[in-house]
Amino acid sequence: MNVETAKTVLAVTQDKELKLILEQALKKDRAYRYHLCGSSKEALVRLESHEVNMLIFDADIGEDPKAGLPIKMRLSHPHVARVVVASPRKLAEADALAKDSAAYIFITKPVVVSQVRLTIKRALELSELSRRHRIVTRELKLSVDDELFDEDRRLSVSGGISKFERLVYASPKMADVVAKAKAASKTELSVLITGETGTGKELMAKAIHFNSSRSESPMHVQNCGGMDETTLRAELFGHLAGAIPGIAAERLGLFRAADGGTVFLDEISEVSPAFQAALLRFLQEGEVKPVGSDSVHYSDVRIIAATNRPLEELVANGSFRKDLYYRLNGFGLEIPPLRERPEDVEALAEFFLEKYAGVVGRRVLGFTSEVLAVLSRYQYPGNVRELENEVQKMVAIAEQGGYISERHLSPDLAKLRFSERLPQGLDVMGGSLKEMVESLEAKIVETTLRKLNWNQTQAAQELGLSRVGLANKIKRYSLAEQGA
Ligand SMILES: Nc1ncnc2c1ncn2[C@@H]1O[C@H](COP(=O)(O)OP(=O)(O)OP(=O)(O)O)[C@@H](O)[C@H]1O
Ligand SMILES: [Mg+2]
Repeated sequence: MNVETAKTVLAVTQDKELKLILEQALKKDRAYRYHLCGSSKEALVRLESHEVNMLIFDADIGEDPKAGLPIKMRLSHPHVARVVVASPRKLAEADALAKDSAAYIFITKPVVVSQVRLTIKRALELSELSRRHRIVTRELKLSVDDELFDEDRRLSVSGGISKFERLVYASPKMADVVAKAKAASKTELSVLITGETGTGKELMAKAIHFNSSRSESPMHVQNCGGMDETTLRAELFGHLAGAIPGIAAERLGLFRAADGGTVFLDEISEVSPAFQAALLRFLQEGEVKPVGSDSVHYSDVRIIAATNRPLEELVANGSFRKDLYYRLNGFGLEIPPLRERPEDVEALAEFFLEKYAGVVGRRVLGFTSEVLAVLSRYQYPGNVRELENEVQKMVAIAEQGGYISERHLSPDLAKLRFSERLPQGLDVMGGSLKEMVESLEAKIVETTLRKLNWNQTQAAQELGLSRVGLANKIKRYSLAEQGA
């Protein structure tokens, strides 16, 4: 083990005997750097300025255990392994402290060198394992998607499908937006993403984060809509214990939790003027002042904000601060609604088909061309989310080893089937609405019958009529099989 990989152990104690044991356990071992502090206050200063991997906290130090350093560190330094040591007379307090601080273990005095060595080794192993687990979990998530994105697979049959992290697209419009987003991810500027609901704003924000130099640090998401100001402030800036009614424990806040990373603020248009001011201060100075506290902390966070309401208009009518708007809009990205990028529909539908067939463990061969035609004619008020839901539902009811056909379409989409079957340039006859509707009905019935070679059973089924109902319509409109 060389000095670069050596782990730093910080001990907080005034107990001479414990100091001696810790020195014996750690000082000569090159796997560790050892630092001793006489109080939590001193330790906090050290923590602010140096990397620390492990804390050994002596509960006999005579500080208020509820305000104990290990508890604070659970929030401020969650990845530092914590061990609590106490004399038997402090057993109950030490037990509570270990629980509240999510310590690895608490051990009672007198401790012996070999016991300390083993405890430190195991605690550090565990924190290393959880660090790796976090990385692997993320990699696993990506590799599941990578499998879906595999160039050789059926997904790419329609050609020209691209991806940006988990965003799938084939349209030139999205290619433009993604090119801008990739450029944005290489900068430290704030990003403002605009787009209707379900267009993929959050997915885009994640893609930018994971393509940026901050990708190894956390990205936290906060929806700013439908939240009162105090709660939103507390979520982002943190709060002291008791500062928020009904919440006993103190909270670090997402801005500090995401230090070094990214915070995604969704529905940014919904925040109050006072919150806008606090956010601006944070963007300018990196200042974080927890609710109920006078102390100021600093955090280095990149902001990506999203809105489905045009912020320029809110700036123009005075409900959104202009200076904040400019600050957020370092890079402006506009994701077009799905109906304006029809080339994406098939690519996305195939992607979701594969995704959900995998989820339910069903082999579905694909969509019939009729279904694809219907899917690409629909307007998608709910954008990609709506398409995703449609495909998920269709996959759920599709037969094993079969195709998704018109029968599987939901009623909203099924409506589009009929107009598609109408002959091009259909001239509807008659003057009154009733006459026009009847003429249209006659044409639909006739076209369906012709398509199905006058198989009345099938035609009735397709039109949602009974056999008798269909026969009545044939009679009423004097329809007859050609050449019959
Ligand atoms: N280009 C895309 N490729 C793959 N999946 C997408 C794409 N765009 C959106 N989605 C999927 O659609 C759903 C909605 O996306 P997302 O939550 O990012 O949209 P949003 O714009 O943030 O919506 P809202 O405004 O409602 O918050 C998600 O399940 C997402 O995975
Ligand atoms: Mg969203």
